[in-house]
Amino acid sequence: MISKNVEKAINEQIKREEHSSRIYLSMASWAERNGYPGAANWLYVQTEEERIHMLKLVHYINDRGGTAVIPALDAPDATFKSLPDVFQQVLKHEEYISASINDLYATCTKEKDFTSANYLQWYITEQIEEESTVRSILDQIKLAGSDKGGQFMMDKEFAAMATAKRAAMAISGGANAVT
Ligand code: FEO
Repeated sequence: MISKNVEKAINEQIKREEHSSRIYLSMASWAERNGYPGAANWLYVQTEEERIHMLKLVHYINDRGGTAVIPALDAPDATFKSLPDVFQQVLKHEEYISASINDLYATCTKEKDFTSANYLQWYITEQIEEESTVRSILDQIKLAGSDKGGQFMMDKEFAAMATAKRAAMAISGGANAVT
């Protein structure tokens, strides 16, 4: 049986992951409306990935005899200054998520819930990859420059990254991996 403190802390993380999914959905929709179909595609895939992160935690709490809470969510921002602005915000958000997972891990160890701490290792590793990917995207956006040709090439690169990301999710089981 999961302790009340760990249950509460994981439920807060469920809310953060679902909110991440909504934030990226809003960014994807903005990119789709503003002439960045490749970036939109990448962000739509990221939306799905965050939902998987949320679902894994829902199943985890319920499997441990707790109660997963499905939260109300604030509406995300709908407008952005530019594509670099979108990805600066993605990086800032992922750094926030990494910090929240570290805090959650600390709660689990304080409560001597080593089963949950062990489960969270997956999220800790995932965050290294998430931050690194977004930093690399920001570097590439900078290299591509602000002229139309560079932006066009960058958007094609996004489309390729989205396809690779979707394939990796399918290989790892996608939504099935959460059951
Ligand atoms: Fe699930 Fe990108 O944090």
